[in-house]
Amino acid sequence: MAAGTRYAGKVVIVTGGGRGIGAGIARAFLDSGAQVVICDKDVSGGQALEQQLPGAVFIPCDVTQEEDVKTLISETILRFGHLDCVVNNAGYHPPPQWLEETSAQGFRQLLELNLLGTYTVTKLALPHLRKTQGNVINISSLVGAIGQSQAVPYVATKYLPRKHLDPIVGTVGSLNTRPQGHNPGGHLGP
Ligand SMILES: NC(=O)c1ccc[n+]([C@@H]2O[C@H](COP(=O)([O-])OP(=O)(O)OC[C@H]3O[C@@H](n4cnc5c(N)ncnc54)[C@H](O)[C@@H]3O)[C@@H](O)[C@H]2O)c1
Repeated sequence: MAAGTRYAGKVVIVTGGGRGIGAGIARAFLDSGAQVVICDKDVSGGQALEQQLPGAVFIPCDVTQEEDVKTLISETILRFGHLDCVVNNAGYHPPPQWLEETSAQGFRQLLELNLLGTYTVTKLALPHLRKTQGNVINISSLVGAIGQSQAVPYVATKYLPRKHLDPIVGTVGSLNTRPQGHNPGGHLGP
């Protein structure tokens, strides 16, 4: 298929799309003709990227806040009328820490972002994705499969989004959605 038209007419939400891998995913979808909604909690970064990327729309949203996610989905439907894909990319890798240096509170906050953010966005997007036979793409991590030194909470939170897709495949895959997981290795953003 010709470059620039593969995803023409498709509407894609990229969480954490304001920079790094998420911004790259947003650019790739735009280059393939999609309409892209960049979701990020960093308002200035998201607005700056929206200015650089014709066709992209920035909607501020913290994926750990269910009301923000409701607004993200409803504004997307209001603007574009439908939704074809969500890319659950928003996530955080804390600096290296031995297990004894970590805290339960820090682990909880990481779960809220890396796992529950993915869960909330997927849950609220699903009714719309079913209508379009749409996709859920989870950006997990290679280390969710192979482990990583000094990163016990991160590895756990990245293992779970991989497993999170299994029941989605099992129970709603048959209802016209196509869940996928991607597991990047090391990537240094701009
Ligand atoms: N960079 C790597 O080497 C690598 C490797 C494997 C997996 N990953 C995964 O890829 C994803 C992107 O990584 P990156 O390196 O581009 O990260 P990054 O820190 O460069 O960018 C993350 C983006 O997510 C946004 N974000 C953070 N918390 C948010 C929230 N609560 N709600 C909405 N947006 C939020 C940030 O503002 C930022 O724009 C993450 O899930 C990460 O775990 C990265």
